[in-house]
Amino acid sequence: MKNINIGNGKIQVPEIGLGCMRITELKTKEAVRSLIDTAMDQGINFFDHADIYAGGSAEEIFGDVTDAGLRNRMLIQSKCAIRPGCCFDFSKEHIINSVEGSLKRLKTDYLDILLLHRPDTLMEPEEVAGAFQELEKSGKVRYFGVSNENPYQMELLNKYCDNKILINQLQFSIAHCGIIDAGINVNIHNDAGTNRDGGVLEYCRLKDITIQAWSPFQYGMFEGVFLNNEKFPLLNKTIDRLAEKYQVSNNAIAIAWILRHPARIQAIVGSTNKQRVADICKASDITLTREEWYELYMAAGRQLP
Ligand SMILES: NC(=O)c1ccc[n+]([C@@H]2O[C@H](COP(=O)([O-])OP(=O)(O)OC[C@H]3O[C@@H](n4cnc5c(N)ncnc54)[C@H](OP(=O)(O)O)[C@@H]3O)[C@@H](O)[C@H]2O)c1
Repeated sequence: MKNINIGNGKIQVPEIGLGCMRITELKTKEAVRSLIDTAMDQGINFFDHADIYAGGSAEEIFGDVTDAGLRNRMLIQSKCAIRPGCCFDFSKEHIINSVEGSLKRLKTDYLDILLLHRPDTLMEPEEVAGAFQELEKSGKVRYFGVSNENPYQMELLNKYCDNKILINQLQFSIAHCGIIDAGINVNIHNDAGTNRDGGVLEYCRLKDITIQAWSPFQYGMFEGVFLNNEKFPLLNKTIDRLAEKYQVSNNAIAIAWILRHPARIQAIVGSTNKQRVADICKASDITLTREEWYELYMAAGRQLP
């Protein structure tokens, strides 16, 4: 498993991380522990959580099955600031309380990384800065980032937070790649040319902010998996041909497509299937050619200008 340097070497993470949003779908604690062990065996020592996943149960079950020895060999990231059905909340009080809750459920003294889950338009950046300072000083959080933010939102936060934002977690897959479409279609008067996110990909590269790709096998907003899906015949035909060429699974090709981008994007995969997780990791061993990367991009229905 190859690593990615976050924040110019502040922290090293595997280029594939395991998302824990769905782990409560596993019926037993043994099954969750077994999934974690499989991931660790494959070099995935990075686990992505959020206070809201399964209403907190995802963190809880994870904490139940990890002892101190195992925890010290892993990197745990969690998120806060979504209050389901209510609002987004970047207040100092909410951020700190949320981290306290995550630490308790995860049964750990510290988070390696904390992300602000979705932009809060009512944010006061001074409050976020205050929360980050306190959490860092107390040793409860080592590093910080955001999720689903555009460049100016990150600029605003970084102005007050002493450039602590090292990560932006964004939805990104072959079938959901708005963050690259606009850059390929600059000044073209079609839908793909519409710059919806302010050039977030280029901004992150410029500022050394690592992008993490969430839902790397999904299309739409949780509409489903594009692999083996009859809605994407050409894409699957192309993926299957490359899977055969490289002797890996179709999931591995989907991840290899993300890892091939020179932005050094970390893929956060959400599988709860041990075999699939092991298969996905083979993506780290292959490098798609430039021609294959663009062929997949177009097979997903995109056109080059
Ligand atoms: N920041 C945010 O706003 C945000 C939002 C959503 C998610 N996330 C993070 O991103 C992580 C990944 O998200 P995700 O779980 O939506 O991503 P995903 O990895 O794209 O999807 C995982 C799901 O797809 C299924 N799947 C994968 N390959 C399949 C195949 N070939 N055939 C059938 N089913 C297949 C998996 O089933 P199996 O379990 O059977 O493999 C699992 O249910 C989450 O765990 C979370 O940590 C962040």
